[in-house]
Amino acid sequence: MAAKRIGILTSGGDCAGLNAALRAVVHRAIRNYGWQVFGIRDGSLGLMDRPLNYVEFDLKSVGDEMLRLGGTILGTINKGDPFAYPMPDGSKKDRSQDFVDGYKELGIEALVVIGGDGSMRILNQLCRQGGIPMVGIPKTIDNDVAHTDYAIGFATALNVAGEAMDRLAPTAASHHRVMILEVMGRDVGHIAINAGIAGGADVVLIPEIPYTLDGIARKIAEVKAEGRNHALMVVAEGCKTETGLSVTQVQSGGQARYGGIGQYLAARLAETVEAETRVTVLGHVQRGGMPAMRDRIIASAFGVHAVDLIAQGKLGRMVAWQHGQVVDVPISDVAGITRPIDPYGTLAQTARGLGIYIGEM
Ligand code: F6P
Repeated sequence: MAAKRIGILTSGGDCAGLNAALRAVVHRAIRNYGWQVFGIRDGSLGLMDRPLNYVEFDLKSVGDEMLRLGGTILGTINKGDPFAYPMPDGSKKDRSQDFVDGYKELGIEALVVIGGDGSMRILNQLCRQGGIPMVGIPKTIDNDVAHTDYAIGFATALNVAGEAMDRLAPTAASHHRVMILEVMGRDVGHIAINAGIAGGADVVLIPEIPYTLDGIARKIAEVKAEGRNHALMVVAEGCKTETGLSVTQVQSGGQARYGGIGQYLAARLAETVEAETRVTVLGHVQRGGMPAMRDRIIASAFGVHAVDLIAQGKLGRMVAWQHGQVVDVPISDVAGITRPIDPYGTLAQTARGLGIYIGEM
C-alpha cells in the first residue's frame, strides 16, 4: 500500500516556534504512521507556482536544531491572497484554482496549515473550494486566534517585550523619564497587557479599552506624588488616538502597518506632563530569535495532535490549547475571528488591582 502523503505550510507573519511545529508534524507522521511529508514553500505560493515549490522532509531534515531556530524554514507570506492575488500591473486576480490544481499535482491527501486567523480563513476557503482535507495549527505573536489560550509565537514575543521593560526601567529611573514602549499585537492588546503586568508598567494602553490623555497624565502625577520620578508605559500598536484615528505607516510595497502611536502619545503628553519622555518601538524583534520554551512545548503538542487528527479522519479542525490541554475545534469557528482582551477579565482586573492605568470603560 502506498504511504500516505501529507503537506504542510506556514502562512502569514512568521514567529518563533514555527520550526518546532514543523518538526513535530514530521516526526509524528513518519515515526508513528510511516507517512511522507511535503513542506510547501512560501505559504500558499508553493502550490500556485509552476513548477511546484516544495521539499520532502525526512527525520534528519528536522532535527532538534529546529526547536532552537526562529522563523520558518519553509518561508511564508502575509500578502498574496489567492482569491485576490496582486498582479504586477496593479490588478487583482483570482488564482485560487492554481492552488487547488497544485495540491492535486503534488498528490497529497491532507494539508496542515500553520497560520493566524486570516490564514485560517483564506486557507479554509481554498480547501473547501478544492475539497482539500485541512487541519490548522494556530500561530501568531498577537495571540488573537479564537478558542485557543495560546498561539505559537506569543510566549517568545512576550519574553522579548518583558525583557525590554527590564532594560527600560533602570534607564528611566536614572534619567527621571517617562518611557513609552510600543509593542506589536495588531488589533489586540495581549502582548501589551501581559508585558505591562510582568514588567511593572504604570500605564498600559490596549485597543480594547479607550483611554484619555488626562487619565494618563493623572496616573503619572500620582506616581510622582508617591515619590517616584520615573514611569513606564506600554502601548499596543493598534491603539487609536484620542479622537479615534489609527496610527499607521505605509511600508515599502504600499502596505499600511500600525506604527507611531507611541510617538503620538509622547508628543501629546509633553503638553501636560512635566517629564522627559522617550519612545521605544520594539517592532519585528518580537517575531525573531530563539523560541521560548513554552512556544516549543505548545508547538510540539500542536504538531503531534494535528497529525493524529488526520490519522483519525478528523478534518476541518484546528488544534487549540485550552486549560493546559491540547484540544481541537472546528476551523469554521475560528476563521477570520479575533480573540480580544476581555476588559473585565483576569488580566484587566489584575492590572487595575495593581494600580496600573489601563483606560476607562
Ligand atoms: O500579526 C503579526 C504582526 O507582527 C503584527 O503584530 C504586526 O502588526 C504585523 O504582523 C506586522 O506585519 P509586517 O511583518 O508585514 O510588517
